[in-house]
Amino acid sequence: MTTSANKVLLLMAHPTNHRSEINAPMFQIAQKITGITAVDLYHEYPRFNIDIDREQQRLLEHDTILFQFPLYWYSTPAILKEWQDLVLEYGFAYGRDGTALHGKRFGLVLTAGGKADAYHAEGYNHFTIDELMRPLEQMARMTGMEFLPPFALFGARTARDDGGLTQHLVDWQVHLNQLVGGA
Ligand SMILES: Cc1cc2nc3c(=O)[nH]c(=O)nc-3n(C[C@H](O)[C@H](O)[C@H](O)COP(=O)(O)O)c2cc1C
Repeated sequence: MTTSANKVLLLMAHPTNHRSEINAPMFQIAQKITGITAVDLYHEYPRFNIDIDREQQRLLEHDTILFQFPLYWYSTPAILKEWQDLVLEYGFAYGRDGTALHGKRFGLVLTAGGKADAYHAEGYNHFTIDELMRPLEQMARMTGMEFLPPFALFGARTARDDGGLTQHLVDWQVHLNQLVGGA
């Protein structure tokens, strides 16, 4: 049974979701799972007019927060940065009395066009995905949230044809059910 202690908020950011091969089907799977609130940020805020009160209320109502996105220039698509800048206010998420997120869990769900072996010191992307995601890891720490290991798919552009997508979607469903179940 789902309790308020393991409600999952999935904030998905894909500026061209209608052309997505990976994130769109992942989002559709999440939408069907009880206990997950699946939010399409670009759909809700096409002009980046993020409703801060609404987003903060959503955070308060959930135990686990996930950012889902395609890796864009070794970072998130722009709306997730805007969301952080506006929603994670002083006095709410950090600073004096800013304890609203303490004890929650925060995770990254990302897809990358580059293959896994490119994300190494010797690979052409030079850095690991953990290293590249450090600002988000530190955001979680700063706001008192536990940072979960990233759930990542590499080689995203070829995954549909090489069979990787099918397995990834199975793994994704299992992962979400475990999160909702409190694992
Ligand atoms: C503007 C832009 C920037 C991108 N930057 C990166 C990148 O830094 N690293 C990478 O591995 N892939 C990069 N990609 C590839 C996307 O991550 C990839 O196409 C996406 O994860 C596929 O997921 P989708 O089918 O849901 O769109 C970029 C793609 C675009 C359009």
